[in-house]
Amino acid sequence: TYQHGSQTPPRIDMTSLLQGRRMRRNRRTDWSRRLVRENTLTVDDLIWPIFVVEGENQRVPVPSMPGVFRLSVDQLVRAAEDAAKLGIPLLSLFPYTDPSLRDETGSEALNDQNLVCRATRAIKAAVPNVGVMLDVALDPYTSHGHDGLLSGEEIVNDPTVEQLCRQALVQAEAGVDIIGPSDMMDGRIGAIRQTLDANGFERVQIMSYAAKYASAFYGPFRDAIGTSKTLVGDKRTYQMDPANSDEALHEAELDLAEGADMIMVKPGMPYLDILYRLKDTFKVPTYAYQVSGEYAMIEAAAANGWLDGERAMVESLMAFKRAGADGVLTYYAPRVAERLKAGL
Ligand code: PBG
Repeated sequence: TYQHGSQTPPRIDMTSLLQGRRMRRNRRTDWSRRLVRENTLTVDDLIWPIFVVEGENQRVPVPSMPGVFRLSVDQLVRAAEDAAKLGIPLLSLFPYTDPSLRDETGSEALNDQNLVCRATRAIKAAVPNVGVMLDVALDPYTSHGHDGLLSGEEIVNDPTVEQLCRQALVQAEAGVDIIGPSDMMDGRIGAIRQTLDANGFERVQIMSYAAKYASAFYGPFRDAIGTSKTLVGDKRTYQMDPANSDEALHEAELDLAEGADMIMVKPGMPYLDILYRLKDTFKVPTYAYQVSGEYAMIEAAAANGWLDGERAMVESLMAFKRAGADGVLTYYAPRVAERLKAGL
């Protein structure tokens, strides 16, 4: 028996204290832990965000996201083939637009030969069984880095929505499967739904960035698409205040009423409470975006030997499942899919 110095341990009656319940019993062996496991992570939960760049045979590293590259369309098609082999259901594409093509109104977003439209066509031709999602928002295309149209200092809502409808239509014509409005303008889901339906694209799904917060965790993403230096001010007049939670329910309710097929919470891990509340309230397909800054934090700590990166990756993704996510947008998608294939 175990004793500290000369002190007599108190007499504890463990049997009556525990009433026969010992939680550790189920945790003793691997098979038992598997048997009582409540949530599982599978390849069907993964959405892979990929950055696309002009050119051929390009794999341009993103310095603030070790292991993540901007891919030219030919390389992207290879990545889509890998995704198909691994069983990853959906890719989400983000363009690095050449600065010479960016302007005040983001007109390149409406060019049916823009980078993401060509990329979508190439993937759909080569790997038709992998889903493709595109962001609807103007930030990769505007000289000021905002998601909408500027009038003076203000991002004007209704003219932006019209521009977003045109952008969505161009993407639908390129063959996109899911439209992901990430701009946070009011009324854009309904307007985009109407536009798609009126043009014969009833089949195109909408995953709304329903609760998207004005977050510091998007930093590395803005490096990747080249807006971190050009962004004028911040996005607090359209993205949500990190202090708010009920407001997320209101946002999601509106998006669903306007026709969203699926909803998303973004960022991910600091907003698990929001994810839980949305799933619990609406019971619709609900996704989390493990954003660039979350990825960068884990990778930076792992590179310093401060934590086990592989375990942190899997644990962070499992946390989304536990909180109620039907899937996760994650830069880890290919890496974790490889591990799942090997049996974790
Ligand atoms: C743009 C958009 C952003 C992200 C996805 N779409 C950044 C932003 O709103 O500034 C961030 C994704 C990430 O950080 O990984 N509308």
